[in-house]
Amino acid sequence: MKAASTSTTPSTTAPPTHSAFPPPSTASLARSSRIAPHSHIKALGLTSDGLATSDGAGFIGQNNAREACGVVVELVKTRKFSGRALLLVGAPGTGKTALALAISHELGAKVPFCPMVGSEVYSAEVKKTEVLAEAFRRAIGLRIKETKEVYEGEVTELTPSESENPLSGYGKTVSHVIVGLKTVKGTKQLRLDPTIYEAILKEKILVGDVIYIEANTGAVKRVGRSDAYASSYDLESETYVPLPKGDVHKRKELVQDVTLGDLDAANARPQGGQDIMSVMGSLVRSGRTEVTEKLRREVNKVVQSYVDQGVAEVVPGVVFIDEVHMLDIECFTYLNALLESPMAPTVILATNRGNSFVRGTGDIVAPHGIPIDLLDRCLIVKTDGYTRDQVAKVVQLRANTEGLKLSEGVIDRLAAEGEKSSLRYAIQLLTPASILARLAGRDHIQTEDINEMNALFLDAKTSGSLFNQSGDYA
Ligand SMILES: Nc1ncnc2c1ncn2[C@@H]1O[C@H](COP(=O)(O)OP(=O)(O)OP(=O)(O)O)[C@@H](O)[C@H]1O
Ligand SMILES: [Mg+2]
Repeated sequence: MKAASTSTTPSTTAPPTHSAFPPPSTASLARSSRIAPHSHIKALGLTSDGLATSDGAGFIGQNNAREACGVVVELVKTRKFSGRALLLVGAPGTGKTALALAISHELGAKVPFCPMVGSEVYSAEVKKTEVLAEAFRRAIGLRIKETKEVYEGEVTELTPSESENPLSGYGKTVSHVIVGLKTVKGTKQLRLDPTIYEAILKEKILVGDVIYIEANTGAVKRVGRSDAYASSYDLESETYVPLPKGDVHKRKELVQDVTLGDLDAANARPQGGQDIMSVMGSLVRSGRTEVTEKLRREVNKVVQSYVDQGVAEVVPGVVFIDEVHMLDIECFTYLNALLESPMAPTVILATNRGNSFVRGTGDIVAPHGIPIDLLDRCLIVKTDGYTRDQVAKVVQLRANTEGLKLSEGVIDRLAAEGEKSSLRYAIQLLTPASILARLAGRDHIQTEDINEMNALFLDAKTSGSLFNQSGDYA
């Protein structure tokens, strides 16, 4: 079997090397927690003509801003917005971050979306501008199409075969693994190298999964679970796929989505896989650990040659910088330069500041704390405050997403609180109130829970007004 004879690394010491994609960076995992407060927002909620629907996709009101964002989505999709910026401005809690996330939903998973917060640039280890540069690289996607020789099918058998370990007296090692693959047309039994078995374990492949193994690299990819094993749950995280057609051994068109940031990182720390990332990795075998400008240029060159050959396509994505007023003049200047580079993603900025000092200048006051030359490159969209009605709708949506039941009058009460202080305060009262309700042995939140919450916690305005002008506690 060709797949079996391709790898010569001993399985006992080599780390699992077959992985079509780099491991998700911990940074992007950590970011999902920022998104949780917005989980009720599914999209911008626009009609096909780009008009805002009344309660579209979890977004209440804010019609102007939503429609404007819809236009930006269209421009990004047709690649007419690269190198420009959208600036979302508005009071705290008016849905700027929510809008940006809705834009990312609209663009779909294939278009890279790289969110960051302005203050992230102040890291003790990395230069400010480097943080920005990396975010921009992560927002440019590369879709690589390749035709590869693969073995594909539903796994019918997965039997590792063990033998004595020649290196140590104890224990056994896997000497090879027998994998049975089935397609509509036939079945085939493969005898595979132990390193491939490691990849199979890493991908958590079980009998009944549909997989493919690349013939000349041994890379294993799980496509999904076979239809035959589909259960009747309404909601499930599993993706079911039909039994593959054709022969087990065939040529298959594979599409891989990576970002320039991924390629930079893979090449900075070459690990020696056999996929596209490390083909490029083999360019630089010096064991370099830092992403330098020179490395980026080398990666760009290879990317360009892939594009010229027609095997790859560049997909410019979006960088979202929340709380952009936290950037300083150095960053803003660099941002201008990045925006003008030939491979620039779309930039979305958000801020809740009005006229304020540009950080790092000391005395220059500018709208939103952003220098005029950058503002010049921005389309500005404003978010409006909410009426009591709209607050009520958002609170109801949030309660549904969090699975909370509300008694009569609670919504009205929270809407009044929201109108008095802020939408966010009203939303934030929900969870603690549900805990109070549970303590009292109820499954519904009642107005008295909200009252009690109000007595326990202060909203910002009340809290501020407890201090007199000189800052002493009144
Ligand atoms: N129009 C809306 N429809 C539904 N939910 C909304 C809407 N506007 C805001 N929200 C929700 O209200 C909360 C606060 O909104 P968000 O975080 O987007 O505010 P923001 O404008 O980014 O505020 P800040 O300036 O403080 O960052 C979030 O949970 C958000 O999902
Ligand atoms: Mg925000």
